[in-house]
Amino acid sequence: MKIIPAYSLKKYNSFGIEAKAKAFLAIEEEASLQRVIATATEPIVILGGGSNILLCQDVDALVLKNNIKGKKLLRSFKHQVHVAVGGGENWHEFVRWCIDQNYGGVENLSLIPGTVGAAPIQNIGAYGVELKDVFVRLEAIDLQTGERRIFRLQDCAFGYRDSVFKRKYKGKYCITKVVFRLSKTAKVNASYGAIKATLKEMGVTQPDIRAISDAVIRIRQSKLPDPAVLGNAGSFFKNPVLSKKQFKRLQTAFPSIVHYDLPDGTVKVPAGWLIEQSGWKGKRVGNTGSHKNQALVLVNYGGATGKEIYTLAMKIIASVKQKYGVQLTPEVNIW
Ligand code: EPU
Repeated sequence: MKIIPAYSLKKYNSFGIEAKAKAFLAIEEEASLQRVIATATEPIVILGGGSNILLCQDVDALVLKNNIKGKKLLRSFKHQVHVAVGGGENWHEFVRWCIDQNYGGVENLSLIPGTVGAAPIQNIGAYGVELKDVFVRLEAIDLQTGERRIFRLQDCAFGYRDSVFKRKYKGKYCITKVVFRLSKTAKVNASYGAIKATLKEMGVTQPDIRAISDAVIRIRQSKLPDPAVLGNAGSFFKNPVLSKKQFKRLQTAFPSIVHYDLPDGTVKVPAGWLIEQSGWKGKRVGNTGSHKNQALVLVNYGGATGKEIYTLAMKIIASVKQKYGVQLTPEVNIW
């Protein structure tokens, strides 16, 4: 175990922003994490895949990169399995492993960057599926005491891109293991329009989980920039959820507004649409910009600082607010 001082995090955040950790250590197992907690004199910060953070300054802490690996079949039932996965596993590699085992449930979440341990924090979601739909429990280490704690579904307060780990327990735990419930007899979820259209393009009429995963990969690759080529953190903002009343008022003024009615009577409006209609799509400001294929994704054209991207985000928030009276909130964690 070797703690490295003044360590560059450029390779550890998908925006590709230069910022330094006061100290850095990769953690391969739970026991070494507990040893570090017992002896550390600095505050501890956990880093997963770095695909949902914006580094606006150097990190004045001991940054621990969660590299805890392992995929294990815990229980096999008639139609389902429970699998336990290390928090440091790459999310997409886990998804493809599930497809190879013919375990269904996470195929719609293909190609989401990041790690398994970070996935519950923002309840990752795409194409009609969220992490909470396949979640059984997780294990996490308390960064103050080093104690292990089990969180079940009801403990996590999962919401749209939200959980207890973004609120009450923000920065308090390292998620070391997640247990998923997957299906051996998967019914695929191809209800999302873009998936249906892509399967048709692919000539698939009876999609299995592999076909769904391939379709999702195609859609994501066609719309979302690859962080290895162009720094970004996926959707920068959440899609705002409006009350029926607020939405009706907006629709009267802007009849073409794209929207989705939610079961509880509220209405979700795509932030990408609001940002595009406010004139930001494909616009470049210095080394930053809003992506040409998906306005919701902010990008680093190279050499941008976190503060520059933050400034762009604030300008976008202000113009959407001015035109539509709608408040956008970042989905990305600002450090
Ligand atoms: N739209 C525009 N202009 C744009 C982008 C989108 O007008 O530049 C409109 C279009 O009408 C489009 C609609 O917005 O039909 C929805 O766009 P899309 O299907 O791309 O989905 P999204 O709402 O922008 C959300 C998630 C994505 C996830 C996709 C697919 C959030 C914040 N984002 O995006 O998640 O992949 O749905 O399910 O909920 C992420 O969280 O990082 C992420 C990429």
